[in-house]
Amino acid sequence: MKLTILGGGGFRVPLVYGALLGDRAEGRVSHVVLHDLDPERLSAVTRVLAEQAAHVPDAPEVSATTDLDEALRGADFVFSAIRVGGLEGRAEDERVALAEGVLGQETVGAGGIAYGLRTVPVAVDIARRVARLAPDAWVINFTNPAGLVTEAMSRHLGDRVIGICDSPVGLGRRIARVLGADPGEAWIDYVGLNHLGWVRGLRVAGRDELPRLLADPDLLGSFEEGKLFGVDWLQSLGAIPNEYLHYYYFNRETVRSYQQAEKTRGAFLADQQARFYEEMKRPDAAALTAWDRTRAEREATYMSENRETAGAGERDADDLSGGYEKVALALMRAIARDERTTLILNVRNQGTLSVLDADAVIEVPCLVDANGAHPVAVAPLPDHATGLVCSVKAVEREVLAAAESGSRTTAVKAFALHPLVDSVSVARRLVEGYTDVHPGLAYLE
Ligand code: G6P
Ligand code: MN
Repeated sequence: MKLTILGGGGFRVPLVYGALLGDRAEGRVSHVVLHDLDPERLSAVTRVLAEQAAHVPDAPEVSATTDLDEALRGADFVFSAIRVGGLEGRAEDERVALAEGVLGQETVGAGGIAYGLRTVPVAVDIARRVARLAPDAWVINFTNPAGLVTEAMSRHLGDRVIGICDSPVGLGRRIARVLGADPGEAWIDYVGLNHLGWVRGLRVAGRDELPRLLADPDLLGSFEEGKLFGVDWLQSLGAIPNEYLHYYYFNRETVRSYQQAEKTRGAFLADQQARFYEEMKRPDAAALTAWDRTRAEREATYMSENRETAGAGERDADDLSGGYEKVALALMRAIARDERTTLILNVRNQGTLSVLDADAVIEVPCLVDANGAHPVAVAPLPDHATGLVCSVKAVEREVLAAAESGSRTTAVKAFALHPLVDSVSVARRLVEGYTDVHPGLAYLE
C-alpha cells in the first residue's frame, strides 16, 4: 500500500512514520512517498525517518520527491499536511492581527481566516490533481484550518477527503481518564466545527458519566480543560468545550497575553524549527535526537499563553504524547481493512446538525469502515453553541467564496463577520495588512 505525504518535509512527519513502524498487520503501508517543495526539508526529514527505521524489520520504504503529480500517481492514501507560507507566514498572521487588537491564532479568528485564504487555493489544486491522478485514493487532511480546508477539498473529492484533528480525541481521553473510564470503551457525545466543539456527554455501558464530573469541583478542576476554563464556567455551560474555545470565552485575556508575549507561537516555532533544519545540514548531526528534543519542547509549550492566562500551570505529562498520527493511522486502517471503528472526524454534515446544510463540513463522531466515514446522529447543540457554529461556518463560506472569485470585498466580509473581529474598519485594515505581507494573497483584487 502506498501512502503519499504532502508537506513531507514537515516537522511532524516522523510522528506519522513512527506510528507506521508500529503497525505490523497485514496490508499495512509498504511505501511512503514524501512530497515537499523544499528539497532541504525533505532530506532533513528523510534522515530522521532512516534513524527511526534503523532497527525495525520490514520498515516501510521511503522515497522523496518535489514533483507533486509523481507523488500522487498510484497513491492509496494521501496525507495532506502542508503549511502554505511556512511558519514565517503563521507569525505574520499573528503579528498583523495583534497589531489591530484581535486574535491571530492559526485556526481561530483573523489569523485562521488569513491562513485559510492562503491555503484554500493550494488545497483545491491538490484536490483536483488527486481527482485526476489518483481517483481511488482517500485523502486525510491534516492541514489547518482543518474544517475549512477539508470543506474546500470536498467540493472536488466528495467524501473521499476526511479531515482530522487530535483535540477532540485528547479531550475525550482526558474526561474518560478523570472519570476512571476506559477511553476505548466510552462513547463521546461531541459535535461542532473543528476547534469549535463541545463534549455534552460521555457514555459508558449506556450510562452518561458526564453529570458526575460536572457535579464534582475537585474532579472538574483536575484536568486541562477544567484548569483552562475554570470549574464555575464549565458548570454553567453544562458541557466541556474544546480547548480552542478558550480563545472565544476568554478572548480579551488571550489577546492581551499574546500581545505581551515575548514571541507569538508562530514566531517561536519558526525560530525553533529553523534551528532544527539548520542543524540537519551538518552531515554528523544526530537527526533523531535533535528532532526529539525539538518535538518535546514544542509539545511542552503548546498553548502556554492560554494556560498562563488561566493560571493552569504546566501540561500534564499524559497530554504530551500528541495524537494526530494515531487518529490518522486508525482512520487509514479502518478504511483499508474494513476494521469498523468510531472516530471524531471532519466530514460533510449530511443532516447531522439540522441548522447547517448537507455539504457543510463539521466535526462529529463517525462510524468508519471500507466505505469511508459516516457521521452519527447527535442531539442538537444548545442555542449559544448553534449561534457560534453558524457564524463561523458563514465566515468559512465567505473565505471559500473569496478564494474562488479572488474578490477582496468578499475577503473583507469574511473578516468582518467573524465574532472575534469587532469592526468592519478593522476587517478592512486586516485585509490591507495581510495582502501587504503575504505573496500567497496576491490573487485578491
Ligand atoms: C493541536 C491542534 C492542531 C495543531 C497542534 C499543534 O493538536 O489540534 O490543529 O496543529 O495542536 O499546535 P502548535 O501550536 O504546536 O503548532
Ligand atoms: Mn487541530
